Amino acid sequence: MPDLLCSLVHLPDIEPFLRSLRLQTIFLRRPNPWEKEKVRGFVKGNWSSNWAQEVDVAFSKQPISCFIATKEDDIVGFSAYECTRRGFFGPMGVLPEHRKKGIGTALLLAGLMGLQDLGYVYGIIGAAGPVDFYHRTCGAVPITLNNGRGIYGLKEEPRFMRQSKKDTRTE
Ligand SMILES: CC(C)(COP(=O)(O)OP(=O)(O)OC[C@H]1O[C@@H](n2cnc3c(N)ncnc32)[C@H](O)[C@@H]1OP(=O)(O)O)[C@@H](O)C(=O)NCCC(=O)NCCS
Repeated sequence: MPDLLCSLVHLPDIEPFLRSLRLQTIFLRRPNPWEKEKVRGFVKGNWSSNWAQEVDVAFSKQPISCFIATKEDDIVGFSAYECTRRGFFGPMGVLPEHRKKGIGTALLLAGLMGLQDLGYVYGIIGAAGPVDFYHRTCGAVPITLNNGRGIYGLKEEPRFMRQSKKDTRTE
């Protein structure tokens, strides 16, 4: 699963997606601080403890660097940014029964706009699963540097690895 690079300069307009979701009574917003346990439970229960821990980072920021999609007060999807590392988008997920309604695209664009607001010109989608989805929605392309391995599996801080010519990650 490669990291992807996405330009934040010309993002697709989010408004048509939000409008279409509103007609389905699905709304996007940042969660409130008192919803941390609810969001955490949603992410951990439907995906993984690792993703929930990444979302914890979102709740350490102000504004909270996460968006949720709700329908009738239930969370049906989420996206987070500036969690895994600075400039990273993700994780993100939509409940299977609510997929293919445009929720994922809206959550992605909201998160990328969040990165844009922080001053980034490019965003990184870490260890992307649905590469085609990201390419179609925001033009993201795989990063091939470092053999496409990014930060995952690093045994040393990149700061220390600069001292050594050899990449010791797999040793
Ligand atoms: C990836 C994921 C978030 C996408 O969520 P989603 O809500 O289905 O996303 P969208 O509805 O915006 O788009 C999905 C597809 O439905 C299509 N679609 C969107 N609205 C639609 C509509 N009203 N009718 C029919 N199709 C529609 C989109 O064109 C898109 O097509 P594509 O997959 O061929 O590009 C979701 O599949 C998911 O949670 N996957 C598991 C977790 C995961 O992999 N997360 C990413 C980790 S890097």
